[in-house]
Amino acid sequence: MKLWLVMLLCLFGDCSGEDFPSLSTANASIAVVLDRQFLGEEYQSILDDLKDYIKELLRVELKHGGVNVHYFSWTTISLKKGYLAVFSIASCKETWSLFTRTEEEELLLFALTEVDCPRLPTNSAITVTYTEPGQELAQILLDLRTQRAFNWKSVVILHDSTLARDMISRVVQALTCSIEVDDVTSVPVTVFKMKYEVNEYLRRKEVYKVLSKLPVKFIGENFIPIVTIDTMNTIVEIARELGMSHTEAQWLYIISNSIRNGNMSNLINDLYEGENIAYFFNVTDDDNDCKNDLLCYAEEMMSAFISALDTAIQEELDVAAQVSDEEWEAIRPTKNQRKDTLLGHMQQYLSTKSSCGNCSSWRTLAADTWGATYRERTVVDDQITKDNVTTALIEDVNLINVGVWRPIVGIIFEDVLFPHVEHGFRGKKLPIITYHNPPWTILQSNASGSIVSYSGLLFDIVNQLAKSKNFTVRIILAGNLKQNITNDTNDAAVDMTYTVSSQLIQNAIAKGQAAFAAAAFTILTNPRSGINYTIPVSTQPYSFIIARPRELSRALLFLLPFTTDTWLCLGFAVVLMGPTLYIVHRLSPYYDAMEIPREGGLSTIHNCLWYIYGALLQQGGMYLPRADSGRLVVGTWWIVVLVVVTTYSGNLVAFLTFPKLEIPVTTISELLESKTYTWSITKGSYLEMQLKNSDEPKYVDLLKRAEMTDASYVVEDGPLAGSDILNRVREHRHALIDWKLRLTYLMRAEAVKSDTCDFTLSSEDFMDEQVAMIVPARSPYLPIINKEINRMQKAGLITKWLSAYLPKRDRCWKTSTVEEVNNHTVNLSDMQGSFFVLFLGIISASTVLLMEWIYMRRNKRIEQIIIKPYIE
Ligand SMILES: *[C@@H]1O[C@H](CO)[C@@H](O)[C@H](O)[C@H]1NC(C)=O
Ligand SMILES: *[C@@H]1O[C@H](CO)[C@@H](O)[C@H](O)[C@H]1NC(C)=O
Ligand SMILES: *[C@@H]1O[C@H](CO)[C@@H](O)[C@H](O)[C@H]1NC(C)=O
Ligand SMILES: *[C@@H]1O[C@H](CO)[C@@H](O)[C@H](O)[C@H]1NC(C)=O
Ligand SMILES: *[C@@H]1O[C@H](CO)[C@@H](O)[C@H](O)[C@H]1NC(C)=O
Ligand SMILES: *[C@@H]1O[C@H](CO)[C@@H](O)[C@H](O)[C@H]1NC(C)=O
Ligand SMILES: *[C@@H]1O[C@H](CO)[C@@H](O)[C@H](O)[C@H]1NC(C)=O
Ligand SMILES: *[C@@H]1O[C@H](CO)[C@@H](O)[C@H](O)[C@H]1NC(C)=O
Ligand SMILES: *[C@@H]1O[C@H](CO)[C@@H](O)[C@H](O)[C@H]1NC(C)=O
Ligand SMILES: *[C@@H]1O[C@H](CO)[C@@H](O)[C@H](O)[C@H]1NC(C)=O
Repeated sequence: MKLWLVMLLCLFGDCSGEDFPSLSTANASIAVVLDRQFLGEEYQSILDDLKDYIKELLRVELKHGGVNVHYFSWTTISLKKGYLAVFSIASCKETWSLFTRTEEEELLLFALTEVDCPRLPTNSAITVTYTEPGQELAQILLDLRTQRAFNWKSVVILHDSTLARDMISRVVQALTCSIEVDDVTSVPVTVFKMKYEVNEYLRRKEVYKVLSKLPVKFIGENFIPIVTIDTMNTIVEIARELGMSHTEAQWLYIISNSIRNGNMSNLINDLYEGENIAYFFNVTDDDNDCKNDLLCYAEEMMSAFISALDTAIQEELDVAAQVSDEEWEAIRPTKNQRKDTLLGHMQQYLSTKSSCGNCSSWRTLAADTWGATYRERTVVDDQITKDNVTTALIEDVNLINVGVWRPIVGIIFEDVLFPHVEHGFRGKKLPIITYHNPPWTILQSNASGSIVSYSGLLFDIVNQLAKSKNFTVRIILAGNLKQNITNDTNDAAVDMTYTVSSQLIQNAIAKGQAAFAAAAFTILTNPRSGINYTIPVSTQPYSFIIARPRELSRALLFLLPFTTDTWLCLGFAVVLMGPTLYIVHRLSPYYDAMEIPREGGLSTIHNCLWYIYGALLQQGGMYLPRADSGRLVVGTWWIVVLVVVTTYSGNLVAFLTFPKLEIPVTTISELLESKTYTWSITKGSYLEMQLKNSDEPKYVDLLKRAEMTDASYVVEDGPLAGSDILNRVREHRHALIDWKLRLTYLMRAEAVKSDTCDFTLSSEDFMDEQVAMIVPARSPYLPIINKEINRMQKAGLITKWLSAYLPKRDRCWKTSTVEEVNNHTVNLSDMQGSFFVLFLGIISASTVLLMEWIYMRRNKRIEQIIIKPYIE
């Protein structure tokens, strides 16, 4: 029932439930809460002064409308009275509890409170913490935390004896206390104290003693040294010596002794590539007479409020004057909108016009270190003018203004505290050396010879790196490096170092001429000095190719269905069955009993044999036995014949359909066992080196019997089709051992060139070779690059990218599986065997015919000789 009523009301346009009056029609009212308990003895004087001040303020500053001010001396007031805002001076705890209630009522709260109080969220309230000068350190850290200047899991505080003991506990408290704001968690703190030494030598010793013992594994690598200037510089140096100042560590130096009208860059000593260092300097200037008491802040905040209110009223009046009343009701700001407008105005006012305690002020700076030495290098025509960059010292230090802290507004940030942690290289240009080496790096040039595009696996990785670490790339081509390399062939044998380019690149990287090389290098156990490998971007196994297994000759196809012993058995069976039939036929009393003559037919062994043979070939005989015994012999023979003949013809069809291939050699062991194969390995390759170092008999044997060749089939453009060694592989029994990847490219190139699939890849991979990029040995960015590559690998990006550059599966892909000949029509080569037999038969028939003639002729002559004397 009630719900209906509400909805009905809504229909008439007043359902926002906002019974607050418009500023243009009614006076605003504000609650001023001065907590008597918090202010103690000062309460009365502050109340009186503030009342006077506000009265004056309203008279002078508020040009439109009016304000009803209600004063309270406790914080637990009722907020349901339609206040526009609440101003409070109370303890930290009371302020926060008041804040939760003003939030419920959507009221604006601006609070003046004690030091070491976390500021209320800046998007819904204003907090001023009142500090005695010199006591602001803990508040600063608290502000850093609430404004999320850093996102640390732990922090190490290093301080010297200039910091008072109670300040230390306040600082720790500031970092660890819990704050009722989302995602501001408390940070575990470890505190280390070092003695302050005036003497430089002793100071170094002391700092070294402390820093070298820090268990950074457990306490993290985020440091806040709260020290004097000279100790700071000592710490920076020692930390660098101990390797604690690197890309993953963050150092926030807080320098508490005041630096007046300071040029801070003079105070900062050398900086090196890859460090994350930020500074907080005390730029308090207490020469000027500064107002710094509670009343000053209170008056300033009230001024800010009245100014904001005045602007807001004016704006509302202006708008209301232009529209009708009904329209105004519809468009006038909601409670929350009005609160936000007021808040914005007040913040603006305070940050620009406030002067209370503006002597106390701190400046924060960040060092722009990442990629800074590369920035300095001038480039002429792609060539580096500065040859030798052996240190990462930044000559021209660039400091970034991060922000200013003042008690009344906290920190106003212009940039982030650790720019490199947030923004990587901040869009700097990093020089990167490369050369054409597909599929790792593919450079495409246009007609006039200038490079137009860079691709390949490594450039995919570099682009991803550039995106996540915020840098751009300046390509240096290996060919443009002006260098003096010696042709070093007896140097450690290295794959991918046939090329002069890769030697050049290694030299240039060792000299630090580029941030890193986007070129593929094999990871060697004893690398050239001056370079470091990244983690492997890819692992390449070795493999070998041989000629594709050929079909066996089909001349004797008709013999293939049976093995030799089957043929022999069959022959014996025929030979034995003849006499058996003869004997059974001969001994059977059936013919005598029935008085049937045995003449002709099966009565000779010769005829029996002929009959059995004929039956085998499914030719009938003229005479068949009539006795049951003989019939049984013949009958069982027919069964044998049926089985043999059916099997034979079935098998013959199968052999016609599936041509028989040579047995391919697919593993290293088979290669070693086969007596006919030879094989070759590229001279000076990584494989040769690995095989030399191997103890496994298989590999020792493989190397011993291998032929060493130079990789004539590899040119800088990739594998070369049609070289001598490939022809040898194709035509002779020869195996070529190399990277599987390179071999697949080679096979592809050959297939395209000759349009046949002549090669097959071994099924076994062996001896992985790892491929990585290189960075200068002292490069601070190796861990970062490694981390990013690792992430790409885990996400499967690298595999995906690489597969895009591999030869696509084509018709040559099916290597050793026997292909079915779908519609094979029997041709001469299939039938040649039977014709051959026929031919053989005719030859032997003619021979026998000849012999029969000769025999006849001789018989006749003998007859004549015998007859002659008889006649005579
Ligand atoms: C609004 O304030 C003005 C000046 O403070 C006052 O003269 C006027 O009476 C007030 N109006 C109401 C409705 O309270
Ligand atoms: C900042 O410098 C001022 C002026 O020298 C000094 O009074 C104040 O104690 C310093 N602040 C801290 C936290 O040391
Ligand atoms: C600070 O000093 C450096 C060198 O001494 C100078 O180049 C720079 O301009 C100075 N900066 C300011 C703000 O005075
Ligand atoms: C402090 O405020 C006064 C008055 O606005 C101004 O003259 C002075 O320059 C300010 N001082 C600082 C250090 O900002
Ligand atoms: C490069 O710097 C090293 C160390 O400073 C030096 O020994 C070497 O002579 C320099 N080489 C060139 C070519 O300047
Ligand atoms: C890259 O650096 C620029 C310059 O500091 C910065 O403005 C930008 O936000 C950064 N981009 C990313 C993605 O961090
Ligand atoms: C190359 O190096 C050799 C010795 O390492 C030196 O004698 C020769 O002058 C150099 N050539 C050039 C062009 O720098
Ligand atoms: C290195 O060898 C290549 C090819 O064999 C040759 O062209 C080049 O002149 C040689 N360079 C030196 C410095 O001997
Ligand atoms: C980088 O190379 C140097 C030798 O050149 C080696 O001592 C060092 O351990 C390598 N660093 C890494 C992280 O592999
Ligand atoms: C089968 O025969 C058809 C047409 O006679 C021909 O196009 C096809 O290539 C043949 N298939 C094979 C595997 O030889």
